[in-house]
Amino acid sequence: MKVALTLFLVALVGVALGKLAPLERPYKILMLLPLGSMSHKNFFTSVADALGERGHKVVMLSSHPASSKNPNVAEVDHGLKDLHDDNYNMFEFRDDPTARLLLLSDIYPAVVKKLYRIPEVIELYKKRKTFDLVIVDLMMNEMIYPFVHERTYMTIAAFGMDACHSAVLGNVQNPAYVSGMLEEYPSPLGLKHRFLNLMQHILMPFYLRHWSLVPKIQQISDIFPDLPPLLDIERNQSLTLINSHFSMDVAVPLLPSQVAVGAIHCRPANPLPKELEAWISGAGPEGVVYFSLGTVARGTSMPTMYRDMFVDAFKRLKQRVIWKYDEELEGVSDNVLMQKWLPQQDILGHPNVRLFISHGGLLSTQESLYHGTPVVALPVFVDQPKNAMAIQKHGVGIALVWEELSVDLIVNSIQEVMNNPKYKRNAEEVMRVVRDQPETPRERAVFWTEYVVRHQGAPRLRSPAAKLSWVEFLLLDVLLVLHVVVYAAFYVLSRVVRAVKGRLFPRRVKKKKD
Ligand SMILES: *[C@@H]1O[C@H](CO)[C@@H](O)[C@H](O)[C@H]1NC(C)=O
Repeated sequence: MKVALTLFLVALVGVALGKLAPLERPYKILMLLPLGSMSHKNFFTSVADALGERGHKVVMLSSHPASSKNPNVAEVDHGLKDLHDDNYNMFEFRDDPTARLLLLSDIYPAVVKKLYRIPEVIELYKKRKTFDLVIVDLMMNEMIYPFVHERTYMTIAAFGMDACHSAVLGNVQNPAYVSGMLEEYPSPLGLKHRFLNLMQHILMPFYLRHWSLVPKIQQISDIFPDLPPLLDIERNQSLTLINSHFSMDVAVPLLPSQVAVGAIHCRPANPLPKELEAWISGAGPEGVVYFSLGTVARGTSMPTMYRDMFVDAFKRLKQRVIWKYDEELEGVSDNVLMQKWLPQQDILGHPNVRLFISHGGLLSTQESLYHGTPVVALPVFVDQPKNAMAIQKHGVGIALVWEELSVDLIVNSIQEVMNNPKYKRNAEEVMRVVRDQPETPRERAVFWTEYVVRHQGAPRLRSPAAKLSWVEFLLLDVLLVLHVVVYAAFYVLSRVVRAVKGRLFPRRVKKKKD
């Protein structure tokens, strides 16, 4: 029986990571996202599960409760909840997207100090050299760099492609068409947007890395006196797994050390629990609308004004609605089913679910594209407006703005996306492209992670550009030399011309004139 089970499990593993060569030996891998949000944690867990399934032993440190079911993934929750999104109402950050960054850079130094007093963290730090590889969350987790000093490590870009991080690896993205961290402009970018985008590319990284965040974190040098500057450590990363893919994003040039594994968490839909299946199938040809604002922008933080609009709008629909919401709600019509937790991918993959009303979080957006479900996007903050823009660009849905919301607008938008066949057609087209890859994103993530260990940090992956100064990278010194040479050449030439002129037309010609 046990043997049969093992064989069955091995067969399963063989299917899921089928393209990979047999495992050389299991590695010990330490994954660190001390301050990563819930959605970062979800992305990390997908990578950890893939590595665990392959047979590697993973230890993951975060500020969230354990969620991996893989026996090879051990999770440590350090318990500091200072930066948890539950503490903040994301709707309040809508007016000023930089407010959250300012807030974070204020809270950081205190959190950093507390972190290195936690016994579990100290314990892990002491054991760090027993791991074959460390993987860290690259955004705003610089306080964990003491773990990776003099170690082989790689990063995970859970929020997708970031131009600033790309530049650290030596791949400077062109602001003429690659958007910065804060805002996505409609493509192709006009003069004004290219100007603003360039400012974003320059000012944001400068602010975070040299002005506010990183300098504040640098005070961990008090605890680790031998620590080099954090930004030097950052440059020594071997590889980065990026949560994006050209099929869902913009096609941009990537280095061999930038591995795009977007939609790694996406999988074909599983059968639904009986009741849910009955509710969805029972909706008949009208179909079902699925409404969820994800984990960060929870339903309960939604201002009541907007909440009531949805309640009223759903009353006017012929369709059934599944609404992911944290609490009981009065006055909701019979065509609405509310639940705290729902198997989102299994719902999106159900043929009778025709529309996803989403906050446009990165993982949710990828799921809608992977399952070919049209979207009405209501982005709340940070990268969500960017994702909503992508949804519109792909033609798989429309994006709305909270401040312009009304019952009519909600109803009309739902009707438009459900009744106009172009959205479903586009969604299915994107779905086919997303799924058309030589190997799955999970296999890709596992292969390159092992590659870094196999080749002791894989130095051949590194771009020589990473070692250049800005002056060298932009060839400013060469341009300067070129200018001097050209100037000197002109100078010499003009002297020669003058001398020759003097010979051919001697002064006496002039004298004659006099
Ligand atoms: C830089 O990375 C290499 C290869 O992973 C590692 O051996 C080395 O110790 C690292 N250096 C520093 C200063 O962290």
